[in-house]
Amino acid sequence: MSGAKSVNQQRLWQRHADMARLGGTPKGGVNRQALSAEDAAARNQLAGWARARGFGIFTDPIGNLFVRREGTDKAALPVVSGSHMDSQPTGGRFDGMYGVLAAFEALEALEDAGVKTRRPVMAVAWTNEEGSRFQPGAMGSAVFAGTYKLDDMLAQKDWKGVVLKDALAETLKAAPAPVQRALGFPLDSYVEAHIEQGPRLENERKTIGVVTAIQGSRRYIVTIDGEEAHAGTTPRAARKDAYAAATRLAAAMYEATTDEGDTLRFTIGRVEVSPGSPNTVPGKVVFTIDMRHPRNEVLEAHEAKLKAIVAAKAAPCPAAIERVTNVAPTDFDPKVIGLVRSAAQALGLSSMDMPSGAGHDAMHIARLCPAGMIFVPCERGISHNEIENATPEDLAAGAQVLVEVLEALANR
Ligand code: HGY
Ligand code: MN
Ligand code: MN
Repeated sequence: MSGAKSVNQQRLWQRHADMARLGGTPKGGVNRQALSAEDAAARNQLAGWARARGFGIFTDPIGNLFVRREGTDKAALPVVSGSHMDSQPTGGRFDGMYGVLAAFEALEALEDAGVKTRRPVMAVAWTNEEGSRFQPGAMGSAVFAGTYKLDDMLAQKDWKGVVLKDALAETLKAAPAPVQRALGFPLDSYVEAHIEQGPRLENERKTIGVVTAIQGSRRYIVTIDGEEAHAGTTPRAARKDAYAAATRLAAAMYEATTDEGDTLRFTIGRVEVSPGSPNTVPGKVVFTIDMRHPRNEVLEAHEAKLKAIVAAKAAPCPAAIERVTNVAPTDFDPKVIGLVRSAAQALGLSSMDMPSGAGHDAMHIARLCPAGMIFVPCERGISHNEIENATPEDLAAGAQVLVEVLEALANR
């Protein structure tokens, strides 16, 4: 119980309030997109708090930001905890940020309790988890894990054509970290705290989610090429209307991904219609698909259906579907899951085992070392929405469980 009793609920809550001002929106949410000025401000804020505590700080070539509290054994592999500080355009103040601040709170609580750990314990803010501005998401953790190549990611462009390499350079200039480390280093273990982003904990009146797995997720870009034409003079039979084709594809895709148990998740989140003029027949449509399911074979089968729909229903407009991400379902490490469950019990906190519907950086880091996650409730399960909310008590409870788990991993 040594570290947990030093978790400071007010300090943790205040840090969320401080961070929520960086990219804060009038509705009380945040727009702090990856590698934006607001992201740089959050990086500087975290580094400032870390410096004040005398913790080590460094980044890597994809801009992941690490805060290190030394252990007694310099050669021991570090135990790492963290999440992301970038947000959706209309995001909430807890998605990602909670995992970074809970990890930092854990370092402070260990320090305040005078707890020595054999292994170093580190907090991390991974670059671009949301994948909203730059695709793919969970980018910093995936590059760290070797899943995506650094150069491929540096070449990615946002929807306005800004190249990631330039945005990253600007961010690191605005938020310089003292040390640039090489990409990737061996970890002993990884634990990520996060709001659940669903209603189960609240509905079942549980404080701690013992996360067992993350469902598989795939992302696609569909491009439809039509022909711009005059809206007044062009008869329907002569049109190659890219938007009319997009609606046919979308309707068929929604139909094909409607399953009995409402388990498959299918989302068209972004649609770009060009030239976007009211009296010109659309010449091009680009839309995104986000598809998720706990079982890979279901994703595989539905990917084939999406491709068949594009081939059959886009005519007379040529169309293509490109898969941009494919993250297999992730099972967390039974040891780490057990530590989360027993820490919650030892702290007298109600808990339940559950899978994660949302993706997290842990899905990539779990391929490197034993990993697990801790969920805390968020109000009505709402997330990726400016009204996202959580309570100071639940955030502190999750941080207490986190300290206990990190301490156990760092001293085993
Ligand atoms: O999309 C996700 O699952 C994560 O919240 N970025
Ligand atoms: Mn998140
Ligand atoms: Mn998110």
